[in-house]
Amino acid sequence: MSEDKKLILVIGGTGAQGGPVVKALTSDGKYAVRVVTRDSSSTEAKGISSIPGASILEGDTYNEATLRKAFTDVDYVFANTNGFAIGEKAEIFWGIRLYELAREFGVKHFLYAGLEYASKLGHFDPKYRTGHLDGKDTLVFAVPLGDGLCPLIHLDDYGRYARWMFDTPSESSGLNLHVGTEDIAWKDLATAFTEVTGRKAIYKDVGLDEYFKLGPFPNPDAKIGRSSGLDDPTLVSFRQNFSGFWNTWKDNLTKRDYKLLDTILPDRVKSIKEWMIKTGYDGRRAFVLKGASS
Ligand SMILES: NC(=O)c1ccc[n+]([C@@H]2O[C@H](COP(=O)([O-])OP(=O)(O)OC[C@H]3O[C@@H](n4cnc5c(N)ncnc54)[C@H](OP(=O)(O)O)[C@@H]3O)[C@@H](O)[C@H]2O)c1
Repeated sequence: MSEDKKLILVIGGTGAQGGPVVKALTSDGKYAVRVVTRDSSSTEAKGISSIPGASILEGDTYNEATLRKAFTDVDYVFANTNGFAIGEKAEIFWGIRLYELAREFGVKHFLYAGLEYASKLGHFDPKYRTGHLDGKDTLVFAVPLGDGLCPLIHLDDYGRYARWMFDTPSESSGLNLHVGTEDIAWKDLATAFTEVTGRKAIYKDVGLDEYFKLGPFPNPDAKIGRSSGLDDPTLVSFRQNFSGFWNTWKDNLTKRDYKLLDTILPDRVKSIKEWMIKTGYDGRRAFVLKGASS
């Protein structure tokens, strides 16, 4: 490693979002990257180990001792905490703790991967409280979105936005950058799907009760977070969390600044249709989240 190569700690680097960040940061040898994972023998961790400039530190991110090792000698931090794994309360705690450690260890740039504060945007109406944020003949995109728009992101661009933030601290410090490829209505998603795959598709606007009956979550009333076994009353269920999630997009509480996003990455993927073509999407279901296979 050259003397002046900055070392970036990536929390969540083995995940669907962290992976492209690691890729973007190590693409040209400018940065070295350290990734924390509980299992250095996972496919994702092995993939990272094989990248020049990337190293693995084995341990649990949500553990002070691991973090103290992880923060040693790092210049910058990218942190994508996992609320689905640890629950809302623990995610808030660890978000604060990561920032405190960043200050203690003299980190020069701390990039926290957040989401819309939906409750605040919705004036604290509980309907927006979001704990984180068929293949017959016709595919039915059935979600409770009404005419609302939902932002989707090409993950490689997500990684490149993170990289831009580290490359340009004078512009990115303090910036709350809301990234996205396109804010899209689900009827337009169905149209793009048909145009690219040739398969028929429709959008069906459903109510929240019907949506949860359709089975996006095996047990919608299970609590989110690994401490749920402790019967922590502050944990929210998938039903509560994803009711807030869909209400937030349905009522268009937030919008991205695509002019700014174009300025940052002029060659970004600009539409979901373009993403489908670029990635060779064929309409088959695939899983991008680490560990997800059903
Ligand atoms: N997926 C989305 O559409 C989306 C959109 C916006 C925001 N987010 C946010 O992104 C976060 C999830 O990231 P992702 O989408 O990249 O998910 P992912 O692919 O499931 O990544 C999971 C990451 O979390 C770590 N992890 C999982 N369970 C853990 C546990 N019990 N203890 C410690 N670490 C654990 C994994 O590390 P190991 O290597 O140790 O397993 C891995 O790095 C969530 O907070 C979510 O709110 C997701």
